[in-house]
Amino acid sequence: MKILIAGARGRLGAQLARFLESGKTPFGGSPFVSGQDNVFAPSSAQLDIADREAVFSFCRGNKIGIVFNCAAYTDVDGAESDPARAFAVNAHGAENLAAAMAERGGKLVHVSTDYVFDGKKRLPYTEEDGCAPLNVYGRSKLEGEKLVLAALPGAVILRTAWLYGRTGGSFIDTVRRIASSRGVVRAASDQFGTPTFAEDVAWHMLRLAAEDLRGVFHATCEGSCSRYEFAREIVRLFCPGTEVVPCAAAEFPAPAVRPAYSVLENARLKSCGMNGFREWKEALSAVIPE
Ligand SMILES: NC(=O)c1ccc[n+]([C@@H]2O[C@H](COP(=O)([O-])OP(=O)(O)OC[C@H]3O[C@@H](n4cnc5c(N)ncnc54)[C@H](OP(=O)(O)O)[C@@H]3O)[C@@H](O)[C@H]2O)c1
Repeated sequence: MKILIAGARGRLGAQLARFLESGKTPFGGSPFVSGQDNVFAPSSAQLDIADREAVFSFCRGNKIGIVFNCAAYTDVDGAESDPARAFAVNAHGAENLAAAMAERGGKLVHVSTDYVFDGKKRLPYTEEDGCAPLNVYGRSKLEGEKLVLAALPGAVILRTAWLYGRTGGSFIDTVRRIASSRGVVRAASDQFGTPTFAEDVAWHMLRLAAEDLRGVFHATCEGSCSRYEFAREIVRLFCPGTEVVPCAAAEFPAPAVRPAYSVLENARLKSCGMNGFREWKEALSAVIPE
């Protein structure tokens, strides 16, 4: 099987590439026993998913049978001033990959976000809940979901949240940097979600690709917390002794409005007996050994 990882240099894509290229994961063997030759992991300079012709030509030329789309324009604040770029990548780029797989009779496992919700529910969101994104990034990702399913109804879409990986920068790095430069970390106690390790998401992408399943799946670690509680756990694990002070999210004004509550329930994964996500604190502690 010829596999394309779009966005293979990002937090999630790099993790998926490590699993696919080694054939090993901390959860067990990869469902894909593929040598490196079968995995294509181009940078955005080598394959721009917003370029439809380039996507079709890459997939045809390399006989791609499965695409894992980890590529996205993830600058949530930047998207407010450059919606055209956000939609070109997150909506039409995703659509291009879906259309290329439709042409080839292939599969697409695409990744979306908790930011498709407005955060007003205050109970974990299931796949049945209505979407109402608050910002351009969320709207572009929601449009991507719709275009993907229209072009390739058999596609699988994982909505994840508060993602961090072993590489690629994240809230963990921000907290550690502030802890070492200022000695005190302020974090919002009125913004709730679920920190989710890229390893867990990558593992579920592989498992779902190997099954005959389709549609939207919520895919985050188990449990939930505020940004403040997340920062406290990061400090406890990585930089003990640093003071963490709770504050309001309004203390960090940003161009994009974020949902105050975007906890997802992995309802469909659970109903399929496929929810292998770890509790968020357990997954976070697994980052330490490397
Ligand atoms: N980060 C989060 O907290 C979070 C939360 C919820 C959902 N998600 C979703 O999870 C997925 C993975 O996110 P991530 O955090 O791993 O993202 P990331 O670290 O920002 O990486 C994004 C990747 O997309 C690539 N890319 C951007 N524009 C591209 C284009 N036009 N063509 C091809 N590749 C392009 C980038 O490549 P280059 O570096 O080569 O430009 C980069 O490798 C995305 O769908 C994102 O929306 C993320």
